[in-house]
Amino acid sequence: MDEGDVYAAVGEDGFERLVAAFYRQVPGDDLLGPMYPADDLAGAEQRLRDFLVGRFGGPPRYIEQRGHPRLRMRHAPFAVSPAARDRWMALMTRALDEVRLPADADALLRDFLGQVATMMINQPG
Ligand code: HEM
Repeated sequence: MDEGDVYAAVGEDGFERLVAAFYRQVPGDDLLGPMYPADDLAGAEQRLRDFLVGRFGGPPRYIEQRGHPRLRMRHAPFAVSPAARDRWMALMTRALDEVRLPADADALLRDFLGQVATMMINQPG
């Protein structure tokens, strides 16, 4: 499976369930909770969902609304230490385990998310 085929396999519903399962854990997380906008978690959820949908072959809503992702730059305001990266992936891994996407799409997403999360690290520790 190529990255561009993931959306066809998973659908809007799959991305919606995945990102919802991730954000459900955010407010209660001691490390990540304080980093996210408490008054706009629904907006944050939509931004991540739209980004992933567009990145994996779905409608390009993220780019239409937010422009070029420039993810490292957009994460610069947040202290992404290796521990924060690992916590983010722990929440995302739990979300992936919960929503049970088709195996090939699941593997591709885990790999991609882990790599991008590592790229977001901008603090020593
Ligand atoms: C490594 C750990 C990470 C941390 C601690 C983190 C934290 C955050 C925070 C606090 C925000 C602001 C929420 C908002 O209002 O949108 C954000 C935004 C965002 N994050 Fe992350 N993030 C991480 C990894 C990732 C990864 C791996 C991806 C994509 C694969 C990602 C994609 C995004 C996107 C698309 C936005 C919205 C950017 C915008 O348009 O303003 N993040 N992230």
